[in-house]
Amino acid sequence: MKRETIAIHEGYQGDPTTRAVAVPIYQTIAFEFDSAEHGAALFNLEVEGNIYTRIGNPTNAVLEKRVAALEGGVDALSVSSGMAAIHYAIANITELGTNVVSLPQLYGATYTFLTHMLAKQGVTTRFSETDRPEDVEAHKHGVPLIVDNTIATPILLRPIEYGADVVVHSMTKFMGGHGTTLGGMIVDGGKFPWGDYPERFYMMTRPEPAYHGVVYTEHYGAAAFVARCRTVCQRNTGATLSPFNGFLLLQGIETLALRVERHVENARKVAEYLRDHPMVEWVNYAGFPDNPLYAMAQRYMGSQRCSLLTFGVRGGFQAGTKCFDALRLFKRMVNMGDAKSLVCHPASTTHRQLTPEEQKKVGVTPEMIRLSVGIEHIDDILDDLAQALEKARVEAARDVLPVT
Ligand SMILES: Cc1ncc(COP(=O)(O)O)c(C=O)c1O
Repeated sequence: MKRETIAIHEGYQGDPTTRAVAVPIYQTIAFEFDSAEHGAALFNLEVEGNIYTRIGNPTNAVLEKRVAALEGGVDALSVSSGMAAIHYAIANITELGTNVVSLPQLYGATYTFLTHMLAKQGVTTRFSETDRPEDVEAHKHGVPLIVDNTIATPILLRPIEYGADVVVHSMTKFMGGHGTTLGGMIVDGGKFPWGDYPERFYMMTRPEPAYHGVVYTEHYGAAAFVARCRTVCQRNTGATLSPFNGFLLLQGIETLALRVERHVENARKVAEYLRDHPMVEWVNYAGFPDNPLYAMAQRYMGSQRCSLLTFGVRGGFQAGTKCFDALRLFKRMVNMGDAKSLVCHPASTTHRQLTPEEQKKVGVTPEMIRLSVGIEHIDDILDDLAQALEKARVEAARDVLPVT
């Protein structure tokens, strides 16, 4: 099936007991065993079935199957947030003395997790200088590649098709899509040859003491990675997705393809509008041929682009904050990927603790505004930007700000 159809149907064909068409919310902690023998067989992994929601839940199982199919993976694990997904994906195959290689451009909490938390547990991270493939080559050295596909979503890009081994998501953003529900997902691409590196990835190839001696590659085959995330990481640390949140995320995913289409179209129109506006100094949008990421984006996403972009208001920090404050439709917050248009002024919020030099290093300038363009009518979005930029212009003139 195509992605649009998978997003609506995969993983659920109706409830056999009640004939419910919508995915039921199995708001239960535990599941009853027929007998001691049945319980033992479940624990021994001899039969399939549910045991306890911290390990797995039927509502979340539908979501997991759906996202695995959307990404072209073999299986998936839903967790309570995007950060829990990132934590588990890394914790699953690292330990004291091992290290991670990462791109330098990361979501802030991922960067902090790697540099300030994981490092204290003896797992260090080496950041590549650039995001060029040769600086982070993985497979050649027997190392799996983990990709955070939160922003592109599988509608725009399926990293497993290009060689990623594991895909993580903050379901909180575009996948859920309505700014209501935290969630995360780990998708197993199923292709990494763990057995070829039995010393490095012994946790996949030798009996696991944390789960009564199971050998993940033998018992779970291609889905060994995600099975271990579930039965070792999630079972023992418990960042489980609530089934109610699983239901809400399923609702969101049903319209993912349609929403992304509108997000993409609106963002392109916003970028073009801003590029031609006299109060706008620059626009960073991967859909413009002079953007450094244009060729790469073209290769992986064709003519489509994600709906995040940044722009600089003429007049520096003051003009930037004036425009930001004047927006009416755009919601001022640090989230992204909501149906609503959202705006963030990094220099005064997310990056305010950094010195101006540090801000520059991570690409944040005083006048920069970040937009997550929503799916409202484009005329209303452009009207809001127009009035806010006009206010910034008038106030800049009044304050005699250096408008150059
Ligand atoms: C790219 C990316 N990955 C991960 C996360 C973390 O997700 P969550 O807030 O669901 O923990 C975010 C949150 O902003 C994000 O933007």
